[in-house]
Amino acid sequence: MNLPFVPPVATGSLTLTTASGMPVADDQNSLSAGVRGPLLLQDVHLIEKLQHFNRERIPERVVHAKGSGAHGSFTVTHDITRFTKARLFAALGKRTAVFVRFSTVGGERGSADTERDPRGFAVKFYTEEGNWDLVGNNTPVFFIKDPVKFPDFVHTQKRDPQTNLKSPTMMWDFWSRAPESLHQVTMLFSDRGTPDGYRFMHGFGSHTFSLVNAAGERVWVKWHLRSMQGIRNLDAAQAQRLAGADPDHAQRDLVDAIARGDFPRWELSVQVATDAELAVWGQRTGWNPFDLTKVWPHADFPRKPVGVLELDRNVENYHAETEQAAFSPANVVPGMGYSPDKMLQGRLFGYHDAQLYRVGTNHQHLPVNAPRCPFHNHQRDGQMAIAPVGAAPNYAAVRAEGTQPQGLGHGEPGLALQGSAGRFDARGHEDDTSQAGLLFRLMDASAQRRLCDNMAASLSQVSAAHSAEIRARWMMLLYQADKAYGDGVLQALTRIDA
Ligand code: HEM
Repeated sequence: MNLPFVPPVATGSLTLTTASGMPVADDQNSLSAGVRGPLLLQDVHLIEKLQHFNRERIPERVVHAKGSGAHGSFTVTHDITRFTKARLFAALGKRTAVFVRFSTVGGERGSADTERDPRGFAVKFYTEEGNWDLVGNNTPVFFIKDPVKFPDFVHTQKRDPQTNLKSPTMMWDFWSRAPESLHQVTMLFSDRGTPDGYRFMHGFGSHTFSLVNAAGERVWVKWHLRSMQGIRNLDAAQAQRLAGADPDHAQRDLVDAIARGDFPRWELSVQVATDAELAVWGQRTGWNPFDLTKVWPHADFPRKPVGVLELDRNVENYHAETEQAAFSPANVVPGMGYSPDKMLQGRLFGYHDAQLYRVGTNHQHLPVNAPRCPFHNHQRDGQMAIAPVGAAPNYAAVRAEGTQPQGLGHGEPGLALQGSAGRFDARGHEDDTSQAGLLFRLMDASAQRRLCDNMAASLSQVSAAHSAEIRARWMMLLYQADKAYGDGVLQALTRIDA
């Protein structure tokens, strides 16, 4: 099997036809019994047209519903073959086609692009060894560290089940009971919570992943995409104004830039650490290197440049490409692997499952999702099966000789485990506040003030019935992070309350 099947749609044809190819007699006047109607059931064109119209929407993504996509390429600029045998990195100058989808997280498909929200940054690399999806955000950390909390967390970001309104009370109730959220919430209410479009933000793989070289040696890595346009943010007032004046601000900015040839670029870089280095670092800092609420400070693990991502082509059809695009962190290629990060482990299951429902059983057959290398498996049939599998066998022959143990696969070494199986409550045992304090102290005084003002403005919208307890819990976390952070939010709240 090679390239994905593309149905021959005669876009230039002047003859309007039904979907089955029958020429349409009249597309302006329905077939009626007499001049004034009623209409006849035998107007199959009218019926088919209305039926198809009724089925135009697929379910929106349960998160990251509003998004913008574009095509481009990734070019290797630096050699990382000592870390990975993945062939996309095999030679300097090597190019791989990519599709990127940016998104907001909490809003619906028609929501405003300038909401205070993390931004999704998902990249599909169509490599010769299969698709590699780097499904990241514009923040290096996340709100939670256990996937079992994800649906609850997302519910607090969506609409209240009764009022159908966004609810600051739900959000702050959740965050104030989840100390691990403090680091990400600090980023969310900082200037970077409202980027001025997708071109002016960084991207992060966020999780710790692994790379494996040709000798079967593994290192742990974190991926970074640095905007070569620089960072540009909106202040709270601009973001609010644009939400009304141009809710598609980020979509427009991206499409217009690419259309005028001003192709946005990001530098891909990677932080690298060996098992031994992480063990020493973990001892020194007390941080778990596989905890998604923590960064690896650049002073400890500097970024190494890898290549450049450039977007140079807008989609031809938003639905076919951007809406039906299906990314999954499970999609890696030989020379790459996962990590024990519990959140990543949850995501390895979540995405393909979501897409089986949202797009369909054979979503990987669609041109935007299909690998551009030869692929072969025994999955067959199901709705909308369009991969040209022909008469190829649909079963695996049982190998008489059996297989040799191979570690985790693709030459990746086995993973040593620690402790016993169980449920481990990290609260009270892990430091969830000091990295937020470090981030706060990295900001200059005016950025700190804007962060405190933005946070207080949102906290002040918590319902009166819950305000005191939620504020008390949250303020305690802020003071643990940094006294000036706590003071700043408290003063801003006092001003708002006055
Ligand atoms: C356990 C935690 C998580 C779960 C269960 C989860 C689940 C999902 C699901 C079900 C979707 C919709 C997929 C689709 O319909 O195609 C999605 C989209 C997305 N998620 Fe997550 N997610 C989690 C955490 C994260 C994290 C930590 C990041 C970033 C580091 C992230 C980034 C994204 C992005 C960028 C998209 C949109 C992809 C696209 O453009 O199609 N998610 N997530």
